[in-house]
Amino acid sequence: DASDMEKGLYPHYMLKEIDEQPLVIRKVISKYQDASGNIRIDSELRNSLKEADRVYIIACGTSYHAGLVGKQLLEKVADIPVESHIASEFLYNRPILSKHPFFIFISQSGETADSRGVLVAIKQLGYPALTITNVPGSTLSREADYTLLTHAGPEIAVASTKAYTAQIAVLALLAFDQAQAQGRAGQMNPFHELSMAANAMEIMINKKEMMEEVVWQYLNASRNCFFIGRGVDYYVALEGALKLKEISYIQAEGFAGGELKHGTIALVEEGTPAIALVTQSSVRANIRSNVQEILARGAHVCMISMEGMEEGTDQIVLPAVHELLTPLVSVIPLQLIAYYAAKYRGCDIDKPRNLAKSVTVE
Ligand code: G6P
Repeated sequence: DASDMEKGLYPHYMLKEIDEQPLVIRKVISKYQDASGNIRIDSELRNSLKEADRVYIIACGTSYHAGLVGKQLLEKVADIPVESHIASEFLYNRPILSKHPFFIFISQSGETADSRGVLVAIKQLGYPALTITNVPGSTLSREADYTLLTHAGPEIAVASTKAYTAQIAVLALLAFDQAQAQGRAGQMNPFHELSMAANAMEIMINKKEMMEEVVWQYLNASRNCFFIGRGVDYYVALEGALKLKEISYIQAEGFAGGELKHGTIALVEEGTPAIALVTQSSVRANIRSNVQEILARGAHVCMISMEGMEEGTDQIVLPAVHELLTPLVSVIPLQLIAYYAAKYRGCDIDKPRNLAKSVTVE
């Protein structure tokens, strides 16, 4: 049928969408770069964000994980305080808002009811809102003041991949645009760094056998798996764990490396699989020492590190990219590990049980 045509030679949409990611990042670059090399962002949006004293990012699922990375980007690059919230919690556990809040809704579909509930509530209070979405004309796009499109193309697989990396790329550009607007942009050229990241993503995509091997070695017979990292690697660990849970049904959790000793390490026994990310130079020694702690208790740890921070025994080494953009690259092996784990278990990869692509009920 028509949908099989789109899938082409790919066995699953998820694999096709994973592979499309470098292209999507290049598309984001071309859509957001104007003729003089500047970031193309509506000046009303720029000024509205500039007036904000705090940004509230609202999202669900994978988009929430992109929002956590977005928080880092906006805080580190543009020096704006940011809170990231799960949409379904926000309305009940409503945080005390700042004087001039600015809301960013992140939603692949633009139709998620939990996120829309928050948008409706904050628009009643008159606060400015931006939607970052993959679907032009979607509900969240129409009801917000501003929209930034992620240009990832239709995402069919229920487990989100290319929408996540496209959201991060757009958030990076938004952060740089804001830094420029405030006269605080440094030497970094975001388009150049994003295109380097796209190249690095492509290199990882071309090493699929490596991730297949990791699945054989670490996840073959396991019922669970831990993902650990510090800083932004912790946020990517959360996304890696979600991907694995969603499509392979292996129980997986992402943890901040330093928090393991406060509880979770009790679960580690002989052969417990763990995947550790090492892409941030400021915490590389700390995360390696967390890995030693679980290795000493029998964990079977797969190390994913970035070039320049690698050690001889690391299983996967990612090409080096700008430290703020590492999630674009480090998530690729995690997506592929989830994919192969699901494949070997014979799971319905594109349509995992109990899940819907877009959840339009609260
Ligand atoms: C559903 C999907 C997830 C997705 C989440 C948010 O639960 O199964 O993959 O991340 O909704 O969707 P959105 O379209 O708002 O990004």
